[in-house]
Amino acid sequence: MQRLFQKRIILGIGGGIAAYKSAELVRRLRDLGADVHVVMTRGAREFITPLTLQALSGNPVHMDLLDPNAEAAMGHIELARWADLVLIAPCTADLMSRLVQGAANDLLTTLVLATDAPVALAPAMNQAMWRDHATQANAELLSKRGFKLLGPGAGVQACGDIGLGRMLEPETLAQSAADLFTQHSLTGKHVLITAGPTREAIDPVRYITNHSSGKMGFSLAEAAAEAGARVTLVSGPVHLPTPDRVTRIDINSARDMLAACEAAMPCDILIAAAAVADYRPEVSADHKLKKDPNSADGMTLHLIRNPDVLATLAQRADRPFSVGFAAETHNLLAYAAGKLRDKNLDLIVANDVANTDIGFNSDNNAITVIDRQQQQTSFPQTSKSKIARQLIDFIATSINKV
Ligand code: PMT
Repeated sequence: MQRLFQKRIILGIGGGIAAYKSAELVRRLRDLGADVHVVMTRGAREFITPLTLQALSGNPVHMDLLDPNAEAAMGHIELARWADLVLIAPCTADLMSRLVQGAANDLLTTLVLATDAPVALAPAMNQAMWRDHATQANAELLSKRGFKLLGPGAGVQACGDIGLGRMLEPETLAQSAADLFTQHSLTGKHVLITAGPTREAIDPVRYITNHSSGKMGFSLAEAAAEAGARVTLVSGPVHLPTPDRVTRIDINSARDMLAACEAAMPCDILIAAAAVADYRPEVSADHKLKKDPNSADGMTLHLIRNPDVLATLAQRADRPFSVGFAAETHNLLAYAAGKLRDKNLDLIVANDVANTDIGFNSDNNAITVIDRQQQQTSFPQTSKSKIARQLIDFIATSINKV
């Protein structure tokens, strides 16, 4: 099982002898499915060559903050935003001390300041340095600030000493990195998610659809699985791989989507991220429609209402905790609040699709969640995968309140 499937990891390498193990760590992370970008400090380059890490990661190695070529390819802020996790292994005593200070005097420390992703540290140093009051105080402070400390381990050290200070083995670190993505907030829950567009056939070769890419719904499915849920993802036609540990059912039309969702019931939580066509052609021709030689002006297509997948499921006697999305170009919050009420929902996620940086087919989103008490919680613009995790956390907290 690829527990880091599609996860984007910055592996920061500090200047310590354990840096030689980082090469193996890159391999282990990639074996678990991660995309790895390596960032080396100046000290790290004394212990292992960038070329080795470039070959193993399959990506260019990042080294300098002020390198115009590197910045042109992927600037440091872009790299900081790209990451789902920053893992620093080995993390030396000096690096820990600079992180405590909030230093930004090289690429790695600057990235740590600039990222919203979790940061994990694998300390590695001589046992006396690890025991020193300053290092212990730094470790405690970093933990309090939310850095995850992985290790150090005990044993014989490169210098011949025996004690605590060894970097954990690459296999252990890679598994620990994967564990960081697994919370247990939805363990035991069945989460049903709709994603993507629907296609409403006009004839065998034409259909009505919309610009939904499925990215939001698929990110939610991945985040729900990471939170321990059993996930069923009912998706319209999209070009996305199925997230790990997710059961996917592909459909075309709104009526197919409803049938697939009803078959997947019961569920504890329903998240409707799909852009379902509200209308379909009343008649779907069983042959390709030809131009009418008697009509120069055009043709009339009569549309009829589709079933509302979300509202139908939210009305059932065994209704799940129901979360809708509202994609709007204007009056966003008012329309979203109206849908919350009309569809009998617990939460609605308002999506401003007038802004082309977010919403349909973008990699990013910014949302406001409205609950039944009309309370609003906003999540600022970031990647859809991060928004999905934030939303899943929010839902996990909300279900415990009802
Ligand atoms: O797929 P992406 O490219 O990542 O884009 C994400 C998104 C913008 C499609 C998504 O985040 C989003 O906002 N989805 C809802 C889009 C929408 O058109 O919503 P709506 O206002 O028409 O519908 C409100 C809610 O009812 C939605 O949860 C929708 O899934 C649901 N619905 C609507 C009509 C219908 N017949 N059945 C439904 O279940």
